[in-house]
Amino acid sequence: QNPAIQPRPPMGFNNWARFMCNLNETLFTKTADAMVSTGLLAAGYDNINLDDCWLLKERNSKKELQWDPDLFPHGMPWLADYLHTRGFKFGIYENAGNMTCGWYPGSQDHEEIDSKTFESWGVDYLKLDGCHMDLQKGRSYYEEFEYRYKLWHKIMGDLKKPFIFSQSAPAYFSPNFHLDKNNTDWYRTMDWVHNNGELARHSDDIKVYGLNITFEPGGHWESMMNNYGMEVRLARYQSCGFYNDPDFLIPDWPDLSMDEKKTHFSLWSSFSAPLIISAYIPDLTKEDIEYLTNKEIIAVDQDALCEQATLVSQGEYIDVLTKNLANGDRLLTVLNRGNHTSTTEVSLHRMGFINVGAYTAKDLWTGGTKKFHESLEVKLRTHQTAIYRIRPTEGVKLEVTPTGMIFNTF
Ligand code: DGJ
Repeated sequence: QNPAIQPRPPMGFNNWARFMCNLNETLFTKTADAMVSTGLLAAGYDNINLDDCWLLKERNSKKELQWDPDLFPHGMPWLADYLHTRGFKFGIYENAGNMTCGWYPGSQDHEEIDSKTFESWGVDYLKLDGCHMDLQKGRSYYEEFEYRYKLWHKIMGDLKKPFIFSQSAPAYFSPNFHLDKNNTDWYRTMDWVHNNGELARHSDDIKVYGLNITFEPGGHWESMMNNYGMEVRLARYQSCGFYNDPDFLIPDWPDLSMDEKKTHFSLWSSFSAPLIISAYIPDLTKEDIEYLTNKEIIAVDQDALCEQATLVSQGEYIDVLTKNLANGDRLLTVLNRGNHTSTTEVSLHRMGFINVGAYTAKDLWTGGTKKFHESLEVKLRTHQTAIYRIRPTEGVKLEVTPTGMIFNTF
């Protein structure tokens, strides 16, 4: 990783989970305008990223990629300029194999020319997907992925300004795809993705309504829990400049309650994950904007230690996660996965503190502060998450146990 390129987890917008291939220029200009007027940009959401299907099916006579002029009548340089002048970075999507997942031209064997094209259009951020990989020169499926992603990294290093590089590679080897029952190749990708880019996807797509995983409407909570369960195993791979990516925030699906949406935001922030919203931003409610711009929780996401919270205990319904924060506070995140209200006592030891004494817990959702001694009582509605900064009061010596990572089994 190169912390200079993306020192903190990126925040912003991507169209995929909400609109899939139903994208056009107006969607992005309206989104940018709404991100300015709602305060999302000011809160840090400064990437606007296109996903699949922006392309024409054919390259031009110089073998360059072309945008679809029906969808993007003013063209990509114009759109990049529109975004840049408003303070956004411009992200684009391509694919390491020879076709995108939506069957548009992929970048395989065109890496050099495509990087130049994107540079000339003013691209700042590249999401590189992994569909339709053509195996070449006797390489295995795994080896072809490693080769292509490393090639892109090398080529980008020669650009005037490397793009933020979001790598989908590990997701193609993760248990979600059941290609490798022992997950050997999934873990192997982690040996190189962190030196090769700024982000890596590991899990399935956050469910796209009616398409992904099942054809039933709904299922967004389950999808979010699936990605959380995959991500929670990966804390040790994250460090400043390289972030595990559990996929998008999806604030406008009607099957998610406000508690569930806030859980999504709390967990992703505890992970210091990218906060990329996939929603129709102009129609987000005041309540949605309010929770998405919660300053204290964004500060946890963007914390200077860049740690991903680890699971320190998992009960039948309750998960407890912790991490260190740059100012010496300890983060405590408590999730109720169960279908009923639950009360739990989290002991100081479980939070990672060795010394007894008085501590304060600042609830980052309510802003309220509570003093406690041996343990903190946390009461949660179904699918609700509490997120606190814990701090010893004066006179209590601060020592923290080495927190082990517990593998997630649900
Ligand atoms: C699979 C990726 O995981 C999604 O995020 C999206 O980019 C689609 N491909 C586009 O085809």
